[in-house]
Amino acid sequence: MWLNSATQANVEILRSRGVTVIEPEVGRLTGKDSGIGRFPETSTIISEVHKVSKSESSLLHKKILVTAGGTLEAVDPVRFIGNRSSGRQGLTIAYEALRSGAEVTVIAGNTDYFELPGARILNTESAEQMYLAVMDEFVNHDALVMAAAVADARPSEVQSEKVKKELLESITLTKNVDILQEAARIKRGNQVVVGFAAETAEDFLHLAQEKMKRKGADYLYVNNVASGQIFGQDTTSGFLLSQESAPIAFVDCSKHEVAKTIVKKLAQRLGTMND
Ligand code: CTP
Repeated sequence: MWLNSATQANVEILRSRGVTVIEPEVGRLTGKDSGIGRFPETSTIISEVHKVSKSESSLLHKKILVTAGGTLEAVDPVRFIGNRSSGRQGLTIAYEALRSGAEVTVIAGNTDYFELPGARILNTESAEQMYLAVMDEFVNHDALVMAAAVADARPSEVQSEKVKKELLESITLTKNVDILQEAARIKRGNQVVVGFAAETAEDFLHLAQEKMKRKGADYLYVNNVASGQIFGQDTTSGFLLSQESAPIAFVDCSKHEVAKTIVKKLAQRLGTMND
C-alpha cells in the first residue's frame, strides 16, 4: 500500500505543505507479506517528535551532560558496595532537556531500566569509570548535571577471587574522587554545573549551602532523605539553591517538576552567556 502511486502522491502533497512524514519501517506487514510499510517503533516516533519540536526550544544548540544512578564499587567478582539510587531524577532531567531541544548525553551508573530516545547513553559502573567519562565529555558540553549517587569510597583492593565470608569482617576503603568538585574546578566561565545533595540532618539547608560553595556548583538541589523516603519514588521535597538567588522550595513535587525548573534555570543561565 505504501508504494502505491496514489499513496505516494498524497504523501508528497503533505510534504509540500510542510507536514513532517515519518518514514515507515521495513518488515512483516499486517498480512503474511513483508516489505516497506510497517508502523514505526514508538521510540522512533518520540525521537522524531522531539526533533520537530526543537525549533521552539529553550536549549536549542546546547549540549547537556547528565549523570544518573548509583556507582557500584567492586569488592570481588561477585560483591560490590554502592549507594541507593533509581536514577529517576537524573533521567527526568535528561528527558526535560531533550524536550527543550538540547543535545543530551547521559552517563548512567546503576539505574532502573529506562529508555530515553534521542539521548546518547554511556554506561559506567564504578565512580572511577564515571569520573573518566565525565572528564572526557564535560569539555564538549555546556552544562553538567551531577545527579548520580556516587559512592564516596571504594574497596582499596578488588579481590580477583570471591572472598570467603569468614574473611569479610572488614574491608579497607579508599576515598573516591569528587566528580562534581573536579568538574566545577575545571569548568570554563560559559559552563554551568548543577549538583545534588542528600542530607538527613535537621539543618540540612545550611549544610547544603555550604556543600554548594565547597564543591563550586552553580546550583544544588537538596533533598532531605531522613528515612530514605525519596529513593525510587516519583515525588520529592527539597530546595533548589543557587549561588545568585534565594532557594526555591519544592514540597511533595513530582521529580518532573524539579527537572523542569532545573532545565529552565539552565536555559536562562546559558542564554545569558556568550558561547
Ligand atoms: N558527588 C560526586 N563525586 C563523589 C561524591 C558525590 O560527584 N565522589 C556528587 C553527587 O553526584 C552529588 C553531590 O556530589 O551531586 C553531593 O553528594 P552527597 O553525597 O550529598 O555529598 P558528599 O560529597 O558525599 O558529602 P557528605 O556525604 O559528606 O555529605
